[in-house]
Amino acid sequence: MVEPRPSRHRQADLEVTAPTMPSIRPFHPADLDALYDIALKTGDSGQDATALHDDPKLIGHIYAAPYALLEPASAFVAEDEAGVAGYIVGTADTRAFDARLEAEWWPALRARYDDPAAKPLERWSADERRHYVIHHPYKTPERIVAVYPAHLHINLLPRLQGRDVGRRLLDCFLAAVGKAGARGVHLGCGAANTRALHFYARYGFSEIERSARTHTVWMGIEVPVGGGDAT
Ligand SMILES: CC(C)(COP(=O)(O)OP(=O)(O)OC[C@H]1O[C@@H](n2cnc3c(N)ncnc32)[C@H](O)[C@@H]1OP(=O)(O)O)[C@@H](O)C(=O)NCCC(=O)NCCS
Repeated sequence: MVEPRPSRHRQADLEVTAPTMPSIRPFHPADLDALYDIALKTGDSGQDATALHDDPKLIGHIYAAPYALLEPASAFVAEDEAGVAGYIVGTADTRAFDARLEAEWWPALRARYDDPAAKPLERWSADERRHYVIHHPYKTPERIVAVYPAHLHINLLPRLQGRDVGRRLLDCFLAAVGKAGARGVHLGCGAANTRALHFYARYGFSEIERSARTHTVWMGIEVPVGGGDAT
């Protein structure tokens, strides 16, 4: 006798498995390549910047790797069954971190990449715009750092977006920098990144000011005494 085939309905039931909840844990140096990859794939106002750059590591050199390596106490990753797909990095003390970058991070990169300053701005490639930042890092205005001394960068690959992972990473970060003594956190977000702006406002960040020149929206949040609640 021939076994009856499972109905179409039954097959569909077997194929659909609920995705497991992504887990969050502290950064480990073995995650570094994943951080570079995520930084690139979300580096154009939240969209994939791969097509813009010849050197795929430039965005990570500026916005991900130095934080994770120099400030691991406030670096967390989110991973699912396919691997690390999101991170939050930052520092509890922006000015002390600026000084460490000058001493320990920028010199090697400045030796590798030329400063394009002598060339007309309109002829810079996307890579050269990043080279310029390496040679002339942006300094957050003192009036912002004085009130919100910590700052952060958060990036999730599309498969982790819209799943509450951003909020959970922020909870961990605020707890970590609160423990390190920071009472306020700022961030700079491109004015075109409406999704991220909405997300930060929903979490509790307030707009501090906007820069028309750099199209940056500065936002800040106070860190609850006791450091918040990490999940
Ligand atoms: C920005 C980011 C960290 C947010 O984390 P997330 O866990 O995906 O959170 P969500 O985007 O789901 O945010 C929650 C809110 O934003 C809303 N939102 C989602 N997509 C949106 C969009 N395209 N425009 C406006 N709001 C949007 C959600 O509806 C939700 O609002 P609600 O709670 O009022 O419903 C994440 O999407 C990300 O990493 N994006 C790419 C990298 C990036 O842009 N980083 C920030 C650089 S400053």
